[in-house]
Formats: sequence, C-alpha cells, structure tokens
Amino acid sequence: MRYNIAVFASLPNPSFDKDRSLTNRAFEYAIIEEVMKHTDIYDALNDQALLNTQLTVCGWIRSSRESKSVAFVELNDGTTLQRLQVVLNKERFPEPAPFLKLGMALKIKGQLIPSQGKNGGVELEAEQIDILGDCPPEYPLQKKRTTLDYLRTIPHLRLRTNTFNAVFRVRSVLAATIHEYFQARHYVYVHTPIITASDCEGAGEMFRVTTLPWNSEFKTENDYFANDFFGQKAGLSVSGQLEGEVCAMAFGKIYTFGPSFRAENSNTPRHVAEFWHVEPEIAFAELPDIIEIIEDMIKYLVENVLKKSRTEIEFFDKHYQNGLIEKLERLLQDKFGVVTYTEAVDMLQKCGEKFQYPVDWGCDLQTEHERYLSEVAFGKPVFVTDYPKEIKSFYMKQNDDGKTVAATDLLAPGVGEIIGGSEREANLDKLLQAMQARDMSVEDYHDYLDLRRFGSVPHGGFGLGFERMLMYLTGIENIRDVILYPRVVNKIF
Ligand code: 4AD
Ligand code: MG
Repeated sequence: MRYNIAVFASLPNPSFDKDRSLTNRAFEYAIIEEVMKHTDIYDALNDQALLNTQLTVCGWIRSSRESKSVAFVELNDGTTLQRLQVVLNKERFPEPAPFLKLGMALKIKGQLIPSQGKNGGVELEAEQIDILGDCPPEYPLQKKRTTLDYLRTIPHLRLRTNTFNAVFRVRSVLAATIHEYFQARHYVYVHTPIITASDCEGAGEMFRVTTLPWNSEFKTENDYFANDFFGQKAGLSVSGQLEGEVCAMAFGKIYTFGPSFRAENSNTPRHVAEFWHVEPEIAFAELPDIIEIIEDMIKYLVENVLKKSRTEIEFFDKHYQNGLIEKLERLLQDKFGVVTYTEAVDMLQKCGEKFQYPVDWGCDLQTEHERYLSEVAFGKPVFVTDYPKEIKSFYMKQNDDGKTVAATDLLAPGVGEIIGGSEREANLDKLLQAMQARDMSVEDYHDYLDLRRFGSVPHGGFGLGFERMLMYLTGIENIRDVILYPRVVNKIF
C-alpha cells in the first residue's frame, strides 16, 4: 500500500516550516503514515525492481522455525496467497524466539535478496523488527491443516488461512469479471430494491420485514399489515427479476447483482438464506437466445477467472478437487448439453439407477436426478428446458403444448442447479390466466402487468447463484465455505 499522504512526512519538521499551513492534526497523520509505510508482500515477491533494495513489509506469521545460526519466519499480509520468507540472522538477533510466534503481527525492515534456498525466489534479510500485535499460544489456528467444519466455528479467523484467502480472492475476481462481461456488452447495471412487497418466485419463501409485534387488538391480518411500517405486508426480496423486467423494458439489456433472501427450510450444502444473485434481463430475446447468453457468459467467467486467479485455482486443484483445472479447461472446449425436461425424465426412468425419489413426469427434479444428468449422463453442464408449468413460476412463457413453459435450469456437475432462467410470458391474457391459476392478487402486480399492456416484447433472463458458481470454480463442496458469514436455517454464523 502506498499512501499519498505520506508526502507530508517527507517534508522537514513542520514546526520549523511556519510557511506551510499544516495543521497539527495533518502532521499527526503524516507521522502515522510514515511509521506504517510499507511494501505489499505481493510486490516484494513479484516486482523485479525491488530486488536488492531495502524495504519494509508488514504481515502475520504463518510459520516459523529456528536453526543454529538463523531463524525463519514466513510472513503473509493477505495481498497474495504466497508468503515472504524472512531470515533472522542470529548474529543480529541472538534471541529470535519472541519474534517467532504463530499469528503475531510484525513490521520488518530489511534487504530483499535472492533466496538462498533451493526453490529460488526472494527472501528478506531482517534488519529491524517491530512487534505490531503479539499473539498468545491459544491462537486457534495452530494446527497446520484444520478442517473446514472446525473453521466454520471461527468465521472471523478462518479468513487468515490459505483456503479462505484463496476463496475470497477468487470471489472478488469473479464479481469483477461478471461486471466486465455485462458492461462490455452494453447491459445497464441496476440496483433493485431489497425490501419488496411482491414475492417474485411465488414459493412463499420470503422473510418478513416488520417493526410491529403482533397484537391481539388487530382484528385481521390486513389490519395488522396496514398498521405496520410500510402500511402493507413487506419482505426481503427473493429475486430482483420483476424490477429487472421493468428496467429491461426501458434500457433493453440490464443486470442486477446483489443479495437475495430465501427462508427455505433446506439444510443442505447448497443453500443459504442470504445469497448473492446475478440477474440479467434482456428485451427482444427468446429462450434459445437466453440459453446462448448463459453459455457464453459462463465460458467467459471460467476463462477469465482461470487466467486472473491462476495461483488460487491451482491451489484448489491441489487441495480440494484434483482435476479442477482440467474440468474448467474442458468446459471451454465443449458445447453444454441441452435436454428437455420430458427427455430427461425419460432418461432417468430408463437409466437403471436406483434413486431415492421416484421420477414421474410432473415431479420436481431432486438433487440426485440433477447430479445423474450432469455428472453421469452428460458429464458436463447441461441445460434442462421446458419444465411442466405447475412446478415453475407464474411469469414463464407458456409453450404451445399447454403443459410446459419456456424455462431452463443449468445443472453443473458437482454443484447441481447454478442457474434458473426463462423466457417471460409477454402476452397479457396468458399471464393473467397463470396468475389466476395460482390465486395471485392481480392488483399487487399492476405495474408488472402494465409491461404487457404498453409495448410488450419477447424477453427473458436468468438468475445465477453467485456462491454456487464459486463452488463450481473452486471445487469447494459446501456453500458455507464460499461466503463470509453464512446465514442458514437455525443459525447465523
Ligand atoms: O432458480 P431461481 O429461484 O430463479 C429465480 O430467482 C429467477 N427469478 C431468476 C431469473 O430468472 N431472473 O434462483 C436462481 C439461482 C438458482 O439457480 C441458484 O443458483 C441460486 O439462484 N439460488 C440459491 N443459492 C444459494 N442458496 C439458495 N437458497 C438459493 N436459491 C437460489
Ligand atoms: Mg431454480
């Protein structure tokens, strides 16, 4: 990190420099910046120009060892997965032990020199060491390799491990790459509301937003809601799609990228109650266009994350999913599979596999069915299309067969559904019919229905579960390990 304000510090002492109107406060800051001025370990390891210069680094001790004449400290400051080896020569530091405690925060000034070890690279020959923060032996990250289950119990400290450093570095790169993809293609990034009055998916999984405890003086539920903060029932959005459609009818192509909330009672490795959701919506597009965009986007994300986060993906390949890189590279070569729901049901019935849940036309596909399709039958990501209308949402375009809707789920090996999308019903009468069949209140969706009244066009979109995409990219098998603080049924971590 390089501080602009540090320029103050290089001035002569302001007390001798009366012309300069530096306030005492600014000067105080200047002193602090001077004291903490340091080089990122990322730069120390990668910037050739720094070799054989004196520099200061800061970081936490990840490991240390001592031999007869020297002690070694592996320092990490979070700017890279890699650690900088620091050498403490015992001639200069005859008692190195107080500087060698795991988890301790140090500031070290020294000479960056070619490493004396067999692995090459650089190391820092320490000249001056300041202890910024001591770390007692009860520091919980003692063992070399702790389990993910254990680390989940210390979410505030697990981030200091290699695994979580790598996860969050990929998470950050993936988020930026998503923006890059849509921005380069003229999509408008919109921020849809988080508090909403409409349940987009109609699955009754909305968290309620209220300031009012129930009170027996309210005669009806409506009376209660009318007295609440918003004067009506409100909840946390399960999806920004409906507002996304409003935007797409004005800006043509839009995307949202924000949190969605689901009060699903699903205690699985793939569900969290608060997840991040990428939802593009495209005007003048039908289901085959949506499928094409999804495949193009996924391939762009995989290709670019592979390039930008190579070190991290190699780490996951080595420690979490052998063959990960090969899997991702193969994805770029192959066309994704496409199968209709009806064909998929047929395949599942005839495959001879013993499933826990029987498969009949009209049933929702279970995880075991989705896994069979993507992992065994296709061995790659597969689009399942044209689901029975009864198991999908009201807004999906009804197909001519009267039984199915123009929807698609993208199933990815190892994760299952990572995307759900569809063409939307653009015909007002058909949309009204679908809402009536579900006993939905037409008044509540007045604005949404207006989109079909005023210049309705074929359009569609999809929702990508950001954490599920991360699971696919990293090979991490539990969604709780790719999000900072998981919120799940019965627990707020
Ligand atoms: O399939 P879903 O429910 O689709 C929608 O919400 C549509 N409105 C999207 C759209 O067309 N704009 O959710 C989309 C994706 C899922 O495929 C999954 O990846 C993710 O969101 N998702 C979850 N991720 C983690 N935990 C949960 N509880 C999730 N629920 C959905
Ligand atoms: Mg879905």
